[in-house]
Amino acid sequence: MGLVTTKEMFAKALNSDYAVGAFNVNNMEIVQGIVDAAKEENAPLILQVSAGARKYARPAYLTKLVEAAIEDTGLDIVLHLDHGEDFDICKKCVDDGFTSVMIDGSKHEFEENIALTKKVVEYAHAHGVVVEAELGKLAGVEDNIKVDARSATFTVPEEAAEFVARTGVDSLAVAIGTSHGAYKFKGEPYLDFERLEQIHKLLPDTPLVLHGASTVLPEFVARCNEYGGNIPGAQGVPEPMILEAVKHGVCKVNIDTDLRLAMTAEIRRFMIEHPEEFDPRKYMSPARDAIKAMVQHKIKNVLNASNRR
Ligand code: G3H
Ligand code: 13P
Ligand code: ZN
Repeated sequence: MGLVTTKEMFAKALNSDYAVGAFNVNNMEIVQGIVDAAKEENAPLILQVSAGARKYARPAYLTKLVEAAIEDTGLDIVLHLDHGEDFDICKKCVDDGFTSVMIDGSKHEFEENIALTKKVVEYAHAHGVVVEAELGKLAGVEDNIKVDARSATFTVPEEAAEFVARTGVDSLAVAIGTSHGAYKFKGEPYLDFERLEQIHKLLPDTPLVLHGASTVLPEFVARCNEYGGNIPGAQGVPEPMILEAVKHGVCKVNIDTDLRLAMTAEIRRFMIEHPEEFDPRKYMSPARDAIKAMVQHKIKNVLNASNRR
């Protein structure tokens, strides 16, 4: 048991019918809910920390919480930096003991993205840390981009092959139609599986990563709204689409929004049903249970990752 890199996990998941869940963490209850689910499902696990989460919780806390989770559960866990935007934050996380970092150079031009990614790969690999990079841009409906214009930002398969060869990156996040947050599609959900398959064909040994993979289950949106929330029109990636992506080289599936919704729905419900309570443990307990139930559902039914540890 311990902090591990994604190397073995991805080697097993590549060309299989399951993917490893990468769940975003911000606080203790989220970490506990996730690891308890992974333990019960005997599933491989990546816990990821965004720059915002690092700032919110303060760097030492999340690292120590993940170390505590390993001690408590006996699991092997990958501690991953999500969407590192520059060399500096990637270096800091490598130095802090993360076993995996993402350098997200997707907002840069191709050559600049390559140069930045290469620099991070050199530093991380010298310290035994693996690197995820991103090529192509994830766009949301909130960006007001029409569907045909969205596909202009999708990952180009030939560029992906060149990018991986020139950077030596360990895994690659691709843009095929998913986006971050709760509002992913205005009309019919659409993912470009043909493109995904082309990328996988050109890069059969490279684990692919799907960001923006929350399914935004209507029942959780409805529950949030029922208890005073205001998130109309939320729409995620249908669950069968994630299961399909997993069959085309996707080894890592990123999930954050669904955890936020599950947790918030429970806290809202508790607050409305128990207006007399003010003990944080009273509402954080069901919130933690909701995280666990959501992650267990993902592992079993969306990632097909139960008993793959
Ligand atoms: O992809 C972004 C993740 O959902 C993390 O979001 O930057 O608000 O922590 P955040
Ligand atoms: P969601 O917003 O769909 O949960 O995506 C999370 C993500 O991609 C984190 O990097
Ligand atoms: Zn992401």
